[in-house]
Amino acid sequence: MIRKIAVNTGGGDAPGLNAVIRAVVLSAQQRGWEVWGIRQGYRGLIEEQEGGLIPLDRKAVRGITHLGGTILGSTNRGDPFQYPRAVGGELVPTDMSGKLIDRFKELGFDALVAIGGDGSLRLAAKLLERGLPRVIGVPKTIDNDLAGTDVTFGFQTAVATATDAIDKLHSTAQAHERVMVVEVMGRYAGWIALHAGLAGTADAILIPEIEFDIERVCEKVRIREERGQPFSIIVVAEGARPKGGTMQFRTQKGKFSEHAVLGGIAETVAQQIQELTGKETRSLVLGHLQRGGTPVASDRLLSLRLGAAATHYLAETNHSGMVSVHGLALELTPLEEVAGKVRTVPFDSDLLRTGRALGVCFGDEPEGALRGAPPSVRLT
Ligand code: F6P
Repeated sequence: MIRKIAVNTGGGDAPGLNAVIRAVVLSAQQRGWEVWGIRQGYRGLIEEQEGGLIPLDRKAVRGITHLGGTILGSTNRGDPFQYPRAVGGELVPTDMSGKLIDRFKELGFDALVAIGGDGSLRLAAKLLERGLPRVIGVPKTIDNDLAGTDVTFGFQTAVATATDAIDKLHSTAQAHERVMVVEVMGRYAGWIALHAGLAGTADAILIPEIEFDIERVCEKVRIREERGQPFSIIVVAEGARPKGGTMQFRTQKGKFSEHAVLGGIAETVAQQIQELTGKETRSLVLGHLQRGGTPVASDRLLSLRLGAAATHYLAETNHSGMVSVHGLALELTPLEEVAGKVRTVPFDSDLLRTGRALGVCFGDEPEGALRGAPPSVRLT
């Protein structure tokens, strides 16, 4: 029997977080439940500071569906199992999970709605194991790389932002007859690069799933030149890597940070293209722009559906899990099927095949090569 629930947002923010919070609060209120928000991941519960927990009622979530960011704040430095605790003027990693769970129960919470990506859902699964009563996860990440769901909220907005940037780069690339190399986010998966690259009609798209040969990319640039197109747009996923090479990181994983930060591959690729083709080449990194701003309509709808489904599963089942999307349907997927797994672009992806059919270079084969199983034909 649910009476009182807590909601938190963890890891990197993604457009749609506020829409999920609103849907959870309104649908919970309809059921007569009390809802509280935990500030900055789990910090608001671990540190007993004023304002760490916020009562969420109808008024608190008014007019936030279209807002980026999160009214609860977020962090990727708040792992309760290695919490940065000040001891003698120094931050020491400390297991605060016991305190967190005790406080959760003392405050009378029956369940947690954890809105987060892989890292946050892994933590939620661990807390559940250690005694948190119930957890419903909501799949968030612009990277779209969570296992157990077809899609995560935030992704479509990031793709729209990246596509818009690629569109804008066309005119300047064309005016100066340059090659423009644009780096997009996505961590170890190429979903953003693939979707935005195709939608923005990039000439080459480099993704982590396909090691690239820079010669192939240069070949594409030269072929375009010969065809009277003296400019090219190259989209590079931040996790893309050259054949036999490694991914490029900006910073390594710190004592308290959730992950190492990727970055810099676009500049490397740009320098190599300029050297090998003699064409003037510029690079840019879209970075956190892809996480910001107003969620597009499809992300708002997905977020509202996921948030409402979270309370539905709390009310109608006794299970914990992550609300997941499968085609048009929503399901509850066990957290152990999600945590610690990355969903990357499959080699037989229809989008890869589409790109190849259109002559997009993926850095691995000569222009126009068709690869992967042909689409199945339904004769009805
Ligand atoms: O997971 C979301 C994401 O934006 C990735 O695409 C990117 O690699 C990472 O987070 C950046 O993290 P930070 O916010 O720590 O810079």
